Amino acid sequence: MKFDTPAGQNPIDQLKVVGRPTSRVDGPRKTTGTAPYAYERHNVAPNQAYGYILGAGVAKGRIVRMDISEAKAAPGVVAVVTTLDFPAPLPLGLANIAHLFGGAEVAHYHQAIAVVVAETFEQARAASTLIHTEYARAPGKFDLAKEAPDAPLAGGSRGGGSGTPPIDRIGDFAGAFAVAPVKIDRTYTTPGESHAMMEPFATIAAWEGDKLTLWTSNQMIAWSKSSLAKILSVRPENIRLDSPFIGGGFGGKLFVRADAVCAALAAKTARRPVKIAMQRPLMINNATHRPATIQRVQLGANQDGRLTAIAHASTSGNLPDGEPETAVSQTKLFYAAPNRETYMKLARMDLPEGNAMRAPGEAPGLMALEMAMDELAEALNMDPVELRVVNDTQFDPEKPNRPFSERHFVECLRTGAEKFGWSRRNPKPGLVRDGKWLVGMGMAGGFRNNILTKSAARIRLEKGGRLTVETDMTDIGTGTYTILAQTAAEMMGVGLDAVTVVLGDSDFPASAGSGGQWGANNSTAGLYAACLKLREAIAQRLGFNPTDTIFSDGKVTAGGHSVPLADAARGGALVGEDGFDPTDMSKRWQQSTFAAHFVEVAVDSYTGETRIRRMLAVCDAGRILNPKAARSQVIGAMTMGAGAALMEELAVDTRFGLFINHDLAGYEVPVHADIPHQDVIFLDHPDDKSSPMKAKGVGELGLCGVGAAIANAIYNATGVRVRDYPITLDKHL
Ligand code: MOS
Repeated sequence: MKFDTPAGQNPIDQLKVVGRPTSRVDGPRKTTGTAPYAYERHNVAPNQAYGYILGAGVAKGRIVRMDISEAKAAPGVVAVVTTLDFPAPLPLGLANIAHLFGGAEVAHYHQAIAVVVAETFEQARAASTLIHTEYARAPGKFDLAKEAPDAPLAGGSRGGGSGTPPIDRIGDFAGAFAVAPVKIDRTYTTPGESHAMMEPFATIAAWEGDKLTLWTSNQMIAWSKSSLAKILSVRPENIRLDSPFIGGGFGGKLFVRADAVCAALAAKTARRPVKIAMQRPLMINNATHRPATIQRVQLGANQDGRLTAIAHASTSGNLPDGEPETAVSQTKLFYAAPNRETYMKLARMDLPEGNAMRAPGEAPGLMALEMAMDELAEALNMDPVELRVVNDTQFDPEKPNRPFSERHFVECLRTGAEKFGWSRRNPKPGLVRDGKWLVGMGMAGGFRNNILTKSAARIRLEKGGRLTVETDMTDIGTGTYTILAQTAAEMMGVGLDAVTVVLGDSDFPASAGSGGQWGANNSTAGLYAACLKLREAIAQRLGFNPTDTIFSDGKVTAGGHSVPLADAARGGALVGEDGFDPTDMSKRWQQSTFAAHFVEVAVDSYTGETRIRRMLAVCDAGRILNPKAARSQVIGAMTMGAGAALMEELAVDTRFGLFINHDLAGYEVPVHADIPHQDVIFLDHPDDKSSPMKAKGVGELGLCGVGAAIANAIYNATGVRVRDYPITLDKHL
């Protein structure tokens, strides 16, 4: 289905099922432990053996020798596969930067170098300690602050679109900044961060002749199927991935990781199915992380607060052929200003692979930009909400003929200020006390793009009237099952209980997948298209005129005749299959989502410990398909923002080149006690230029801007401006 196709009356607009707060249809299975995650799929293949991955013990160098004889002789061991069994690295999959297996070169710490297969997990783990590896260690670059001054300019394809010129210039930034009556010029740093999702990377692999099946945990089924075909040199039609339930991905499971590759290789050698769940202490250095950034923001404004000059430069590091963290991307679009300059620098380093994590680009980028806006507001003696209001734009500031499809940022700001009680904030910092606590309020804008992409689905009306939806779309804990069921129910005029949704199987039509907050809008739009096809087929079979046929209350009605929907399936099941194709809609309109975040914190005046007291997000993200699920997404994202502002940090050992806090004890994330009160308001303005669903992404938006709102609240509480995230208590001193 082409986007432009006039749908006539859009059945979704009825909002009988879509748009209603709806509990998860997969909730009972999740809460009773009957939704199987990859590692728990004990019945999909008989005689499963356990694989255990051994990671490299050096950050850079070459493996000289591996002695596996003791490991092979250990109790229960079925097979040992080592990277030296392959003369060269296996090909890279989509977006992989470091090779996942093969060859003697070590590109980063904990890169997989062997898999031990045994009858039990414990036997495999024990045997892995008996592998003796000799390395020729090579020097590496591990310190971003040291590498940054010489880092070359980088284009950014991830998030920015490939072919982005290295420096984006509009007008004359340097000239305008030099004469600006009010200006700030600050540098902010954000650390490396880890996805830290609850379910580890996990795969069960089984071969049947040339055919490989992987029961795995993966956000993007079609991408990963073609990646695995390339990495393993297997024809795509001989690979099947199945990933119906995912215990969190956060970007770490967008691309194929070592668990899938090692399980496939080990199953081949062991000649039986092999299951691998990557052990927690291996995950952080073996897989990907969000790269650290050093960001310089320069803002020049007139006395009335209007920005005349904006510059944002970000430096991050990555392995050779890696990409920068696209921390400047929102700065190109968020605020009006005639003179602008944005660019990124990329230092070649030897730490583990940097890649997409939780709103890549905007999440750390807004931690800098929105703190800079707070500093500018103070310099202007202006309210930070008003500063953002006067700099709003309805057009892409770099392409003035290109309007935003919908942009209600000012309404986010005004609504949030009113609901949060912003007028009670004392603009002078450090003056509000509550016993030993210093209390402050802060706010920030939120921005994240709304990506439109192809997505297909199939829906079948079966005998008895049941509807089954099939697509390779994934539910990473986001509520995809539920919004797809709502879409099918709305389109076919039935209740939610008449719909079954089956996801995550590569044999199903290829969907948008889950990433970049593009899943909800595109995958439901794909199902919308499939439902239109099924409605046509049903009308035709019943001899009804398709354009006059109404689907409602379990009945099909046209020309005064009305029959139960189930009757249409009497002559056998009917299938509708189609996809959403946004063609060039995102070229005609800039597609983005907006938020305003408000936070109140208390900082212990003796210890510097920060406690968040209240958080509010007001979100403008098109039609909200399921306010209950969307709220869960946004409060989860706000919690990630609290982590980013206050505690999450990968600590780099710059001598040996690894993240030393590589488990959930050392890598701190917020717990319930850190998040006492959260509120979310959705403006719920449908966007008819986004898709027939008129929805947009909202999950990552909830994270974008939160970190700066917390930082700004801490400044308001204490009068101490910490520009180096996370804002831990030692930095107040
Ligand atoms: Mo998201 S970091 O695109 O899964």
